[in-house]
This record gives sequence, C-alpha cells and structure tokens, in this order.
Amino acid sequence: MSKKNTVIDLFCGCGGLSQGFIDAGYEISLGIDKWEDAIETFNFNHKGSKGIVADLLAINPKNISKNENIGKVDVIIGGPPCQGFSIAGKRIIEDERNQLYKTFVNFVEYFQPKAFLMENVPNIMSMGKGAIKKQIIKDFEKLGYKVSHQILLASDYGVPQNRKRAFFVGLKDNVEFEFPIPTTPNKKITSKEAISDLTEHTLPDGSPYLSKYESSYQKQMRNGNKVVFNHQITEHKEKTIEIIAMVPDGGNYKNLPKELHTTRKVNIAWTRLNSQKPSFTIDTGHNHHFHYEFNRVPTARESARLQSFHDDFIFRKGKTSQLKQIGNAVPPLLAKELAKKLISYL
Ligand SMILES: C[S@@+](CC[C@H](N)C(=O)[O-])C[C@H]1O[C@@H](n2cnc3c(N)ncnc32)[C@H](O)[C@@H]1O
Repeated sequence: MSKKNTVIDLFCGCGGLSQGFIDAGYEISLGIDKWEDAIETFNFNHKGSKGIVADLLAINPKNISKNENIGKVDVIIGGPPCQGFSIAGKRIIEDERNQLYKTFVNFVEYFQPKAFLMENVPNIMSMGKGAIKKQIIKDFEKLGYKVSHQILLASDYGVPQNRKRAFFVGLKDNVEFEFPIPTTPNKKITSKEAISDLTEHTLPDGSPYLSKYESSYQKQMRNGNKVVFNHQITEHKEKTIEIIAMVPDGGNYKNLPKELHTTRKVNIAWTRLNSQKPSFTIDTGHNHHFHYEFNRVPTARESARLQSFHDDFIFRKGKTSQLKQIGNAVPPLLAKELAKKLISYL
C-alpha cells in the first residue's frame, strides 16, 4: 500500500488543485467531474491517478467506494460550484442548487478523511451576511471537524495573478489548521516575468522554445521541458486589432477615444495585462483581456503560465475548451503551498 497520503478530488476539472497536491507529495487516487474534456486532460497529465466522468448529483460515495475499489482516503479536496446558494433566513436549504455542496459534505461524511479542503469563490464568505460561511462550518463540525477558513490571494504565493479564492480546511481531533504564510507578498511575479519568452505567433504543438527563459519563473515553469504545447493564437478581426493597438500596456477602454468607449458593453473590455504587475484573474476565456504587448488575447499556454501550470502540463481538446479548463482551475502553485502546509498535520 502506498505510503503517500491519498486524496479524492471532487469537481476536479482538469486538475489544477490535484496538481498542487501531487507536487507536494500526495497521491490522487480519484478525480471526479462530469465534463469529459476536463477529465481527458486530467488523465493525460496525472498518469498515476484515475479521473472519471460522472455527475456528482447522480452518484453516491458508497457506490464510488465499491466500484472504484477505493482504499483509505486521507484527504478530500474540491471546489463544488456554489455560486447560487439558496438560503432561507440563515440556513442553506435543500434546494437543487445547493446539492453540489451537499455532495461534498456527503463524501466527507462517508469517507471520514483526516482532512478536507474545499475551495470556492471569495464572496461565499459574505453571502447571506456571513450566514453561509457559518452554516458550512457547522455542517462540518457536526461531522467532527475543526474548520479554518481564509481568502487567499494567489500572487502572495508565487503565482503571477491577483486571483482570490476562499478556502475551508477541516481537521479532526479539534486541531486547527493554520493557513500558509505568503511566500511572495513583496516580490510578486509580473506578467512579463511569466510569459515574455512565448512568441507573438502560433507555435505548433511540440515545437521547441524559440528563445531561452528570461526569468527564474519561466525557468521554473519550463520545468526542464524543451517543447511548447497549447500556444495557438486567436486571429482577431482587423477592427479589433486596430482598437486594441490604441490601448497601452496595463491600460483599458478609458485609453480609447470617447466614441470607442462603448464598443463593448462591459467595463472589463479592452483591458491589457500590465507587464509590470501580476495578471488580473484569468477567466474562462472571453475575448476582453489582451496581452500586454501583442494585439491579441493570451494563448492557452500564456494563460496556463499565469495560472502557474508547468509547460509539461498539456491541455487536451480545442482552444475554447482549453481556456475554460485553465480559467476554472486553482493555480497549482497556490494549491501546492496549501498541500505542503496540510501535510504537517497528517
Ligand atoms: C471550478 S471547476 C473545478 C476546478 C478544479 N478544482 C481545478 O483546480 O482544476 C468546477 C468543476 O465542477 C464541475 N461540475 C459542475 N457540476 C458538476 C456535477 N454535477 N458533477 C460533476 N462535476 C460537476 C465542472 O464540470 C467543473 O469542471
């Protein structure tokens, strides 16, 4: 039997969270997600793990345990989508929209792991004036866990991105988890440090890098790798290129002539990365955020770099799908810091 701590990742997506745990020395015995594309990427990159396509609303932990021949489970991790918690007064009600969260709770109840880690959007902390947060803590306390929670900023942990995420970590035996202290609070990695070695134009999958790395972050992300994948650029319309060319590094629609301000009806439109700062939150791939220098949106590989995926983590399926998988993920470096800290309690 493996001596490594074993993990089940629920709503695993392509496996950003899992990757951080693997890098910290855990074994992911099982990942579950209903999205086939994400599971294909998960299985392609996590050779020692098993990702399965399943709707977590339609399966239960007992069957999973039997069908997948699951042995011991030390940790359960995952990010159940909880955007639309429905509450009555101060309680999370048994509404369909809350079932994904309840599924996570059911898995923890069934497997009784030593620890769990649940990730979510930061505003989960303030939903219902804090009632949701309290209810989450109560639900897990009932199962015998002491729950710590915190919002972390990815750029404090070596990720070139100002992405905020909420985390709940529970431990048994009344032990309180302390979140890792920031590793790079005063030396944030900039978007230029993250992607300046990647070319303006498409590189076919498997092409060698065209230049040497230009920062220690790039060296770290290349991870000894010699070739590039997922660097296919988006070909914009001539008009789009003309407009974005008017926006300077770090600028946005406010830098455009007044008559162009409303060409796109969202105020995040025409935003360029700032080469001297960490990136804004990498989302699931709409065409509003542009490269700090090139007149195009970042490629999947550039987005993956900004999320701290190593270059040898290869995203499967088409470009749109890849961008969605990447934007959904927990940055592996942030996950690794959490996983490293957690190991000291197990
Ligand atoms: C935010 S993403 C997870 C990202 C992942 N933690 C990572 O780090 O890469 C949420 C995932 O939940 C999955 N999901 C949503 N509803 C589901 C359901 N009913 N059953 C299984 N997976 C579901 C989505 O397909 C999506 O991949």
